[in-house]
Amino acid sequence: MTSIYILETSAYPKEHELLTELREVIAKKYENLSTMSIPVDEAQFISLLLKIINAKTTLEIGVFTGYSLLVTTLALPEDGKITAMDLDREFYEVGLPYIQKAGLEHKINFIQSVAFLALEQLLTTEPKPEFDFIFMDADKQNFKNYHEQLIKLVKVGGIIAYDNTLWYGTVVKEEHDVPEQLRAHRKGVLEFNKHVSSDPRVELSQISMGDGLTLCRRLY
Ligand SMILES: C[S@@+](CC[C@H](N)C(=O)[O-])C[C@H]1O[C@@H](n2cnc3c(N)ncnc32)[C@H](O)[C@@H]1O
Repeated sequence: MTSIYILETSAYPKEHELLTELREVIAKKYENLSTMSIPVDEAQFISLLLKIINAKTTLEIGVFTGYSLLVTTLALPEDGKITAMDLDREFYEVGLPYIQKAGLEHKINFIQSVAFLALEQLLTTEPKPEFDFIFMDADKQNFKNYHEQLIKLVKVGGIIAYDNTLWYGTVVKEEHDVPEQLRAHRKGVLEFNKHVSSDPRVELSQISMGDGLTLCRRLY
């Protein structure tokens, strides 16, 4: 839902050159699928947020070709660490040369796995890792289930950011007005939005940026 006007006037001029290079490569290689990457204005918001909260440890679920991962590696301090997971390693390798060019690969621990299993493994690791910031950008149908895992992995006071919580604007439409191929994920996103809005463990803000970004700050 980001307008091209906003991107061209406010976001593109401040985009890091490696992010521009990577974005152009992704657009050429993946065409329509390239819209899976977060838009530039959302990327800049996340980068700013990471710096405001002084994030040092982050978790990213859903890497695709690494645009949001490069954003995070650039935003974190030199000793920052990102655990990143995706079921597909080939996607990750498209963005890796740009992360290497920035000299920032040392910040990343990439896990190729189905997210649910990799998260279960993190939850049983001793000592259990705790993250300042978690970016959830995969398997939107199951956000509600992931929330129960992620709330245990984010620090008290830390933030979980869920992407696509407007699901192409369909969350405000009647089901019969929603294209068939968007309905299953819409149902999952609606369930999640309802669930999280009454979860006393988090304070939240749903931001109408990109395809909707819900920030949940863990309270206890
Ligand atoms: C929307 S894309 C991520 C885009 C990326 N965050 C960015 O902005 O550049 C979603 C990614 O999630 C991955 N994915 C989908 N289902 C998954 C699952 N159950 N476990 C792990 N990764 C999954 C896909 O392979 C895809 O690369």
